[in-house]
Amino acid sequence: MTQLVEQARKAQVNARAQYSHFQVGAALETADGCIFTGVNVESSSYGLSICAERVALFKALSEGENRFVRLVVATESDPPCPPCGACRQLLWDYARGIEIILMGKTGEPVVTTIEELFPKAFGSEDLH
Ligand code: THU
Repeated sequence: MTQLVEQARKAQVNARAQYSHFQVGAALETADGCIFTGVNVESSSYGLSICAERVALFKALSEGENRFVRLVVATESDPPCPPCGACRQLLWDYARGIEIILMGKTGEPVVTTIEELFPKAFGSEDLH
């Protein structure tokens, strides 16, 4: 987990958060121990911005990964901030069962799961 936290923190400085000034770094670990990082990338057309968690997830998915174990989200907020609703949906769709570790400016990490963050979710089973 230490390495995952380090990678998320290292990525965080690359956040393109020129509008919100809220820099987020994420690091997603696959079942075979690979790490995919992400940062939030904001647009002058604000609604086109994307969160760090989805960048990390999409990078991994686009490289053919599909088994994930852990996600670290690093921000400067205190207490640490959880993923937004859109990210929760995508994590539910593609990374069920993962542990999610939220790191804030100071203090202890908050450890949770996508199941805890996203109860009564809509998912692929609802389409059948
Ligand atoms: N953001 C993330 O990247 N992840 C989160 O978990 C919460 C919010 C980004 C989106 C936007 O670029 C900025 O933080 C402020 O909402």
